[in-house]
Amino acid sequence: MTETTSTEPGPLPDNPAERYRILRRDHPVSRQAGQPWRVARYADVQRVLRDNTTFSSEVVPATVGADRAATMLFCDPPEHTRLRRLVSSAFSPRRIAQLREVIERRSEELVSEMVGKEQPDLVYELASPLPVTVIANMLGVGDGDIREFKRWSDAIFGNIGAILFGRASADVIEAATAMDAYFRDRIDRFRKAPPENLLGQLIEVETDDGKLTDAELLSFCRLLLIAGNETTTGLIVGCVRVFHELPETFAALKRDRSLIPTFVEETLRYYSPFSLTLRRVVKPIELSGQELPVGDIVLPLIASANRDDSVFERPDEFVIDRNPNPHLAFGFGVHTCLGATLARLEGQIAVASLLDHLDEITLVDHDLAALSRLGGPRTLPVNIRAISKVTSRFQ
Ligand code: HEM
Repeated sequence: MTETTSTEPGPLPDNPAERYRILRRDHPVSRQAGQPWRVARYADVQRVLRDNTTFSSEVVPATVGADRAATMLFCDPPEHTRLRRLVSSAFSPRRIAQLREVIERRSEELVSEMVGKEQPDLVYELASPLPVTVIANMLGVGDGDIREFKRWSDAIFGNIGAILFGRASADVIEAATAMDAYFRDRIDRFRKAPPENLLGQLIEVETDDGKLTDAELLSFCRLLLIAGNETTTGLIVGCVRVFHELPETFAALKRDRSLIPTFVEETLRYYSPFSLTLRRVVKPIELSGQELPVGDIVLPLIASANRDDSVFERPDEFVIDRNPNPHLAFGFGVHTCLGATLARLEGQIAVASLLDHLDEITLVDHDLAALSRLGGPRTLPVNIRAISKVTSRFQ
């Protein structure tokens, strides 16, 4: 590959795969005037995510204060290490495996309801409610409060950039304030009698690093909503997008369900829901020939790294049984996704439910499925052909 110091590429194609290919080849570290740096190659993205002493996660204005605590995603060690240690046990594979039954039942219910409808909306019927109910369950949100919880999360997801940079609208502030009040009340009640859910475990957990304060617990509830919901929606949308574009994958999974885990992994690589993240340069550094000054923001393009031909053979081909598959869809380094095991489980179960009930699923409008934002679209009508005899384990 040729090294280049060109920082301002000319107009780039709209198609993300083509755009990324040009960036990786000709402009591995580039930017448009006044914009953050885009980092396109796998090795550079991995380096940015690994080297937290040069590339800091403290990218948003500090929110620490009397009733505010740093969000783990946006802080560096040692503060990050303390928070991550405290919450990790609640995300162990054993704890996540305990959620399998809840996820399977919910996924089965949602897909069964979807099957009865003509041109159902995949996002509305399955891809959005599945992760929302799982997180609501983990945080002990009462059944009667789920609708309200979903309204808050929708308002917050849709405006995450504005929230992070302190430019949220009155509606969004209202939703965030109502949600904070709800969780403050729950934390108060759960402190007296911690229940068997994730929030209960987090309230009780105590390590050499101490306990989580109320403000830290609240901040973590908010982070779960942001980090765990729309991304998982994006994964389920990505799976169905692959079924639409490559119907042979659906047929292959029908024949051999042991391919579901590698199918989901390849979908994460091929249509990465968390397509980029951000860091701030805190030490001067050169990356692929480009000097990056202290204070600048860089965007490691995860979705571009995941199509890099120096790591993946045939990167623009969907290989259903690709193994190994060292994609960076869940990040890399100290901030590697805490919910990766859960997200994989949800993706695999959603795919299994679709296979249980359907012979075919296609998108009504393919362009709607494009991942232009974190996660995916708000609406995605699909055409489905239900199978005559359901083989679900829940009959
Ligand atoms: C397919 C779904 C998901 C994808 C693609 C995804 C992706 C990511 C990525 C790329 C990061 C690292 C960001 C960075 O380094 O700046 C991250 C962090 C995180 N994710 Fe996920 N995520 C998913 C689902 C979830 C779920 C279901 C949860 C929890 C319920 C979750 C919780 C978190 C948390 C707490 C962090 C912050 C970890 C830290 O700062 O140490 N994620 N995720």
